[in-house]
Amino acid sequence: MARSRQVRAGRAWRPSLETLGVAGDYGSLAHYADPAYYEKAYARRHEDVEYYVRLAEGSAGDVLEFGVGSGRVALPIARAGRSVVGVDLSEPMLAAFRCRLRDEPREVQGRVRLVRGDMRAVRLRRRFPLVIAPFNTVLHLYSRQEVAQFLDCVRAHLAPGGRFVFDFCVPDLKTLAGDPTRRYGAPSFRDPATGQIVRYAERFEYDPMRQLLLVWMEFTPVAGGAPWTVPLTHRQFFPEEMASLLACNGFVDQTWFGDFRDEPPRRESDWLVVSCSAAPRVPGRRRRLAMGAKSGS
Ligand SMILES: C[S@@+](CC[C@H](N)C(=O)[O-])C[C@H]1O[C@@H](n2cnc3c(N)ncnc32)[C@H](O)[C@@H]1O
Repeated sequence: MARSRQVRAGRAWRPSLETLGVAGDYGSLAHYADPAYYEKAYARRHEDVEYYVRLAEGSAGDVLEFGVGSGRVALPIARAGRSVVGVDLSEPMLAAFRCRLRDEPREVQGRVRLVRGDMRAVRLRRRFPLVIAPFNTVLHLYSRQEVAQFLDCVRAHLAPGGRFVFDFCVPDLKTLAGDPTRRYGAPSFRDPATGQIVRYAERFEYDPMRQLLLVWMEFTPVAGGAPWTVPLTHRQFFPEEMASLLACNGFVDQTWFGDFRDEPPRRESDWLVVSCSAAPRVPGRRRRLAMGAKSGS
């Protein structure tokens, strides 16, 4: 797996809050270079999977998932009898999904189509009644321009009357304001890729101007051997900001839910689920707010 120190174009390059924060870069993909760890880390996360399976079952056709990963959500949807097209930029995640599919019955295999592509740019020339982006996938859109490109892409794939549903975690102010040198340890675990027992710790750095949270995931083999660090960059979206971004980019009829329950968010909600649809474009009308850059940036 790629380690924290990278050499790019002959020069030493170190990931940092300054050098990360563009869709498709190392901070958006390094975590997904190790699908075995990803699957182990999130194996107990079921609520969101059940939520999206229910949505897919209630929808009138195939599902498009942006950021499909190794199929944590898409595979249960296919098992439930719905066809899914999954787009992802990470080849290791897609390869892991293809591998999982080999153990599935033929009819389930036949319900999944995987496409390697960038969720800001891909065009499948098909429209879907349900487009989803589960589990913080939208936090890999780091600027207003990237959000606008992605929402254009969603619009290009939504059937008339179709719904776009996604979720993201509410920014945790304690984490954002915390000491960036402090390490938060977690119980040791067996690394599924190497079989060795590994100590795990996280460290958080936050850039309040770009609203970027850089999570440093540190892995240290207990029996010795070289430790490794994986950066994960997440854009932090505050709820009203996300509602405005959707509105500015022509997404209407927004319904918000908290924590994968069919209820409005509460003050304590950790996760927000948004369901919305694309308003028909008025010819000649340009988005100004969403595409304009901040002055000085
Ligand atoms: C948190 S994972 C979610 C995976 C899956 N939906 C799930 O719920 O387990 C985010 C996914 O988004 C993908 N991703 C990140 N940036 C992307 C981009 N620009 N275009 C397409 N996929 C991207 C990552 O490779 C990763 O698989």
